[in-house]
Amino acid sequence: MAEPSGSDSLRTSLGSLQLANPVLSASGTFGSGWEGRDFSPLSRVGALVSKTVTVRPRHGNPPPRLAETPSGMLNSIGLENKGADYFLAETLPRMRTLCRRIIINIGGEAVDEFVELAERFCEAGVDALEVNLSCPNVQEGRLLFSTEARMCERAVTAVKRVATVPVFAKLSPNVTDVTAIARAAEQGGADGITAINTLIGMAVDWRRRRPVLGRGIGGLSGPAIKPVALRMVHEISRAVRIPVIGVGGARTAEDVLEFVCAGARAVQVGTAAFVDPAVLVSIVEELARLLAAAKTTITELCGSLQAPIPVAPQPAVAPISFAPQPAVAPRPGPAGQAEGR
Ligand code: FUM
Repeated sequence: MAEPSGSDSLRTSLGSLQLANPVLSASGTFGSGWEGRDFSPLSRVGALVSKTVTVRPRHGNPPPRLAETPSGMLNSIGLENKGADYFLAETLPRMRTLCRRIIINIGGEAVDEFVELAERFCEAGVDALEVNLSCPNVQEGRLLFSTEARMCERAVTAVKRVATVPVFAKLSPNVTDVTAIARAAEQGGADGITAINTLIGMAVDWRRRRPVLGRGIGGLSGPAIKPVALRMVHEISRAVRIPVIGVGGARTAEDVLEFVCAGARAVQVGTAAFVDPAVLVSIVEELARLLAAAKTTITELCGSLQAPIPVAPQPAVAPISFAPQPAVAPRPGPAGQAEGR
């Protein structure tokens, strides 16, 4: 297979994983790459990231499962896939013929399932694992893994115990403070954070008085979410020491460089590939031109945003204090009298 394209200015790394360039496919938007292989030489992207693989096959959610929105798209696929046995036997060997770097996105209903998948894919010799802690389209409570810091840390710790390749935790934007979850993933040993998964939304068909999607709600992706993704990538990159993989609405080389400037070491391109399946390779080519013109490199640009927003340092999990609390002073009433309780 040809060496992935990329001058030195494009090189980047995610922990111990060296990449020829920072452009990755986003999980769930490019299948295994097989259907896109005739549109452009996928050996030239930094890495291919698979659609989420689960232990057992899943049928996914009732249709319709896609709805176009202004500058974006809602999906409620529900992790449809043929399961790990099929993927390992049929899909992974094909993926390997397309690109030098393969990252497998794994999904589980319980920690044990993440662990089983991590063991099997590491044994199969993939380059890295992306742990999908954040699919918004399933009922089984998996969003808990990216909304509860302790659950996130538990899942990542368990995967890291068995993994022999870098592990990236894919987080949800559907939280108040994404840095708390990112810190928990780092504490669990994650080698990187992928941010962000989709924002939960809905589309309404008012004539039918029904939601457009069969499941009612779905995950919003595409350019509409890029400002949210940029903000979260920046916050996370200031809160943790591990690399951040940016994802959310990037569709041009300019977009990719915005993510890198905000703090991403690599950037996944997803919804844009529905419009142009060759976009990943076009972006790689354009990136080299833009960096040469600006006389800079991905490494130099990464996290170079000036006047970064402040992020207060916090422990991953706030320690519980058992110290006696001071008595609450009585509030003065309207006439300056202390209010009784
Ligand atoms: O529904 C889906 O398959 C989407 C997965 C995800 O957003 O992680």
